[in-house]
Amino acid sequence: MTERRIIVALDVSRATELRQLVRQIKDSNCRVKIGKELFTSIGPLAIEICHDAGLDVFLDLKFHDIPNTCAKAVRAAARWGVWMTNLHCSGGVDMVAAVREMLEGEAHRPLLIGVTVLTSMSSAGLRQLGIARDLESHVAYLARLAHVAGLDGVVCSGEETRRLRQSIGKDFCLVTPGIRPTWANNNDQARVVTPARAIADGSDYLVIGRPITDSEYPQNAIARIVSEI
Ligand code: C5P
Repeated sequence: MTERRIIVALDVSRATELRQLVRQIKDSNCRVKIGKELFTSIGPLAIEICHDAGLDVFLDLKFHDIPNTCAKAVRAAARWGVWMTNLHCSGGVDMVAAVREMLEGEAHRPLLIGVTVLTSMSSAGLRQLGIARDLESHVAYLARLAHVAGLDGVVCSGEETRRLRQSIGKDFCLVTPGIRPTWANNNDQARVVTPARAIADGSDYLVIGRPITDSEYPQNAIARIVSEI
């Protein structure tokens, strides 16, 4: 079902706004993303509000720490019952291995998605960090590392989707933000792709925020996106 591939970015900071948004979208069969602003503002209450409405949660906290700390943080997310969460691939294979081991004894295991290179980063920015590879090669390198280390997929931009799908194959989840339906405003996203294009290129899940959340009728925006796909 196409709706299940849409992850609505709940980029609000107050419980009242969240409750209203959740009321508007809960019957659309989509999933939702809780990011750092919302989680830092109201904490696990955000997860509870979404779960009470029957929505699957992608907890987008981009974990990155020493293996033990990272593993315990992801375990805490698993115990909240989130459907998906993510960690930085640049935390290294030991960090990923510690997370996977920690989750082995857990009743619920969320999908684990790697963050390769943030889309705000340029090749010049990578060089400043001492990374000689160009951006595209570094993204591909980290995605392969994520695959080998046992992550379930990666977050990737629309521009990277096709290449990663071709190089890594089928059993790897690609989660794509920066999506704009043909009728929507680009906002501050510089490089956007349409939902249909992202799916055709091999994306499994589309992260879409403002085209839905800024709409007067978010449920209608979701329906329009689904029919556009
Ligand atoms: O409103 P919009 O559709 O631009 O929101 C996209 C969401 O995806 C935001 O929560 C943003 O932080 C997130 N995101 C992104 N680009 C990335 C990674 C995450 O836009 N590379």
